[in-house]
Amino acid sequence: MTEAKLEAWLDESRAFPPSPAFTAQANATLGIYETAEADPEGWWRTQADRLTWTNAPSKTLEWNPPFATWFGDGTLNAAVNCVDRHVAAGRGDKVAFHWVADATNETRTITYAQLGVLVAQAAHGLTQLGVRSGDRVAVYMPMIPEAVVAMLAIVRLGAVHSVIFGGFSADALASRIIDADCTFVVTADGAFRRGSASPLKPAVDEALLTCPNVKAVLVVKRTSGDVEWTQSRDHWWHDVVDGQPTTHEAASFPAEHPLFIMYTSGTTAKPKGIFHTTGGYLTQVATSYYYVFDVKSATDVCWTAADIGWITGHSYIVYGPLINGVTQVLYEGLPDSGGRDRWWRIVAEYGVTMLYTAPTAIRTLMKWGDELPAAHDLSSLRILGSVGEPINPEAWMWYREHVGRNRCPIVDTWWQTETGALMIAPLPGLTATKPGAAMRALPGISVDVVDNDGVTVGNGEGGYLVITKPWPSMTRGIYGDPERFAETYWSRFPGVYFAGDGAKRDLDGDLWLLGRVDDVMNISGHRLSTTEVEHALVGHPAVAEAAVVGASDETTGQAIVAFVTLKLAADDHSDHAAIIDELRHHVATTISPIAKPRQIIMTPELPKTRSGKIMRRLLRDVAEHRSMGDVTTLTDPSVVAMIAGLMETHASSED
Ligand code: WT7
Repeated sequence: MTEAKLEAWLDESRAFPPSPAFTAQANATLGIYETAEADPEGWWRTQADRLTWTNAPSKTLEWNPPFATWFGDGTLNAAVNCVDRHVAAGRGDKVAFHWVADATNETRTITYAQLGVLVAQAAHGLTQLGVRSGDRVAVYMPMIPEAVVAMLAIVRLGAVHSVIFGGFSADALASRIIDADCTFVVTADGAFRRGSASPLKPAVDEALLTCPNVKAVLVVKRTSGDVEWTQSRDHWWHDVVDGQPTTHEAASFPAEHPLFIMYTSGTTAKPKGIFHTTGGYLTQVATSYYYVFDVKSATDVCWTAADIGWITGHSYIVYGPLINGVTQVLYEGLPDSGGRDRWWRIVAEYGVTMLYTAPTAIRTLMKWGDELPAAHDLSSLRILGSVGEPINPEAWMWYREHVGRNRCPIVDTWWQTETGALMIAPLPGLTATKPGAAMRALPGISVDVVDNDGVTVGNGEGGYLVITKPWPSMTRGIYGDPERFAETYWSRFPGVYFAGDGAKRDLDGDLWLLGRVDDVMNISGHRLSTTEVEHALVGHPAVAEAAVVGASDETTGQAIVAFVTLKLAADDHSDHAAIIDELRHHVATTISPIAKPRQIIMTPELPKTRSGKIMRRLLRDVAEHRSMGDVTTLTDPSVVAMIAGLMETHASSED
């Protein structure tokens, strides 16, 4: 890649016009921005008709800022909308999932009718264990069909799932189970990763030592390993679920009935339980999926390459696609499980038409070489999506040229766990695309970019991203903490939702997302707070103080760099290598391997302002090898120079 070429890519005026292949879609959707803008509530009320309601809502929005109610008097069942109604409409033989295992040759094809049977049996099984409407059920599973089945069976009963990513540690699992007071857990004995089995249930066993309210654990057998068993509490899925009746009568629940809780990192050490309800959430995930991915349910094979343990998996593996009745690929493995061309083999084998993934994965695939995608038939692809972090123009162009072969529009989709569904993204056929820009708010969504005082910035200027009108899939709050919800999102700029992201409007008025403006880091599209990692570090007996920053990283977007001062007694090592290893391991086991610092710098002191605040901004400069700006507010400016020196010495400790 030449400098000049990169310059051209970065040039904001470089736009790709809507692809002619999407003319039909464009004609069908012409005017939707205008229609939605003229009457956003009316727009959403019409979109709610995508769902099958037991009682159709007569109400649309009731808004008591910052608390919204959507479709308040409607009733429905989420699982019926995802599965039963397709079967009832004669589409039972359509494939819902092509499941592809990690690195074994296992595959499973599940039709909508079969999915209906599996969900019905699981609903009976959960009922037998005592699960009732309103109960919180933790789901801690690998990417196997039973994970989706469990989620659907839980909501079918009106219970609430809290899916916890399988990579989280026992501690992280326990704190989430306790926070939502989950009384049931669904898990598996183990998971596969690049062909080898690793146990999962021991983390559940360990977590439950501190969760006395959990009454039963339902365990899917995924590996051949032995597991510890607590007789009165643990139940095999095949014992409890497999023999159950194949039909299940579903009750209906109000639109605002709780659907799920999803934990995400905020700016404090305690993750927030982001809480979503049924009718508004389902309406917006269905609508956004339909328009942004130009769904053609009869012929599409969609692949959201994400884990169900994150919001992307909830909204765009489970609810959005299933409501739209599409066929999907559900893939258990990593991008290189079974070879670095694994993704391209899957695309070719199943005729994948839509691929939705994160910039980190794109950059990794790009690093592995152009020959790999080039060697496979990727002609089935129509649309490529990106999510989770700002996509750099170079990765965007690689995705377009080497995966989409310049035929497929790229939809860069901005949204959050809190927004529940896509908020900013181009529409294929209607919106031009630019390498690195999410372009514009979707129909029915109102956003703005404002300066420090909340005043709209002009074209060509940057500021803070805010959402100015309530939207159907917005979080209904932080589980158990309504005040924190109001304080975190609605107090920075009164009356509007503060997303925590920086954004820029280019000269055409199109939107570019610039990353977080708070203490939230984005590591490979995973959200972590600096405080959370600092908390884990100071939890180690040798550590006196820690400061964590997200430094830019070529592959993972950001990487964690920690500056640590040891307690005097612990600081008698001339070589810190062993303790650095131990601390990295400590963070991985306290939170998750995702949170493992790329680099730990031992320093006798941290740079602080005269009021005692750690100067993270300076540490970020150090971590990114930039020259430091104004250091005059520091108590001791020489500390920074010293740390910068240490940083260079330790550069070799990266792995
Ligand atoms: C944060 C939300 C949304 C599902 C995955 C992440 C960043 C997300 C983009 C994008 C730039 C993005 C933001 C946001 N982000 N998508 N297309 N361009 N940044 O969900 O864990 O709740 O994280 O991810 O910083 O605030 P999440």
